[in-house]
Amino acid sequence: MSGEAAIGIHDLSFATTQYVLTHATLAAETGTDVAKYHVGIGQRSMSVPAADEDIVTMAAAAAAPIIARHGADRIRTVVLATETSVDQAKAAGIYVHSLLGLPSATRVVELKQACYGATAALQFAVGLVHRDRTQQVLVIASDVSRYELGSPGEATQGAAAVAMLVGADPALVRIEDPSGVFTADVMDFWRPNYRSTALVDGQESISAYLQAVEGAWKDYTEQGGREPGEFRAFCYHQPFTKMAYKAHKHLLHHCGHDADEGEIARSLGHTTTYNADVGNSYTASTYLGLAALLDDADDLTGEAIGFLSYGSGSVAEFFAGTVVPGYRAHLRTEAHRAAIARRQDIDYARYRALHEHSFPADGGDHPVPRETTGPYRMAGLLGHKRIYEPR
Ligand code: HMG
Repeated sequence: MSGEAAIGIHDLSFATTQYVLTHATLAAETGTDVAKYHVGIGQRSMSVPAADEDIVTMAAAAAAPIIARHGADRIRTVVLATETSVDQAKAAGIYVHSLLGLPSATRVVELKQACYGATAALQFAVGLVHRDRTQQVLVIASDVSRYELGSPGEATQGAAAVAMLVGADPALVRIEDPSGVFTADVMDFWRPNYRSTALVDGQESISAYLQAVEGAWKDYTEQGGREPGEFRAFCYHQPFTKMAYKAHKHLLHHCGHDADEGEIARSLGHTTTYNADVGNSYTASTYLGLAALLDDADDLTGEAIGFLSYGSGSVAEFFAGTVVPGYRAHLRTEAHRAAIARRQDIDYARYRALHEHSFPADGGDHPVPRETTGPYRMAGLLGHKRIYEPR
């Protein structure tokens, strides 16, 4: 491992939606045994955006506390990763840049590769900081996951944004070299441009994920990475929290590393608490896992954390980070817990109406009623233009 330059995550903040649908409510509606959700896939509830929320409002809400704490003087790049983009041409990050009042001397770009995009953004950010250690990069992952009503994927929906400030001498986590990377052309999950919900072959997607874990780990090992036993915890992409357990057991088995249930729970347990309540937040999921780990676990100072990022289609990356001494003073634990606790419980009918809501494509004036109590909202569509405002 070349630990040459300490570059990594200096601050991390997340935001989620106004509403929450519990799996108990979903189970009662669909006649499913709730244990399938609570135990079988490891999910308790899913975040549901209000009609005036989307990936932009969540991204701005996640990033605003970072700008408030550090200012924007050193941020010259904003990379927003998403697979639920609001425009085919304009980067969603430009709306966020505007809502946050960032300087015009900033480059803003959007990245996509399913749930993997934020890890590409993080690695690109590390590269930019290597080039100029005085600069910081604002990396944002923001997504709303949507499957068809009544489909097996419905129980794995969710929404959240994670914002990370990447810079030299980070206060939270140093990102290590090397990375193990893996790409395979598979159709396990995808969303053609004309669809608002994803298409997925559920069981195929699980196998593709496990193959990618193996492939990324193989490359990580060949690049001279750490041994499995060196990690204190592993943050996996969590389409549902049980997937982290499947992936980790697969990895340990592949490595011939014996671990009992207690050790596995110790490696993963803290990383799943936010995801179990939020659902699949696609690009944000792995980093919501990191937020939960840092917020919930006992002192992690100096410990190595393994990250496995997976995006269907598929690309995966395994890399390591080390937790920085003093990190606890920089956490946003209270705000994170409040973001989850403040969501308003909705019934199935309300969730269904929100799920089915879409804007007319006629270029008319379509204001959205005020709903969210978050800091930013989408005021409506006017002449095909999305209008955002502070609440
Ligand atoms: P399903 O097929 O309805 O569920 O949906 P199942 O029958 O496989 O059951 C799920 C688990 O619950 C099983 O456990 C059952 O045994 C258990 P397992 O055998 O897997 O350990 N179960 C119960 N447990 C307790 N009490 C009960 C009970 N009943 C059943 N009564 C599926 C599952 C994952 C297929 C579905 O949710 C789905 O299609 N999800 C969307 C796709 C997905 O999340 N794939 C994951 C890998 S791909 C990925 O991570 C990328 C992604 O994030 C997208 C991106 O990259 O952009 C999705």
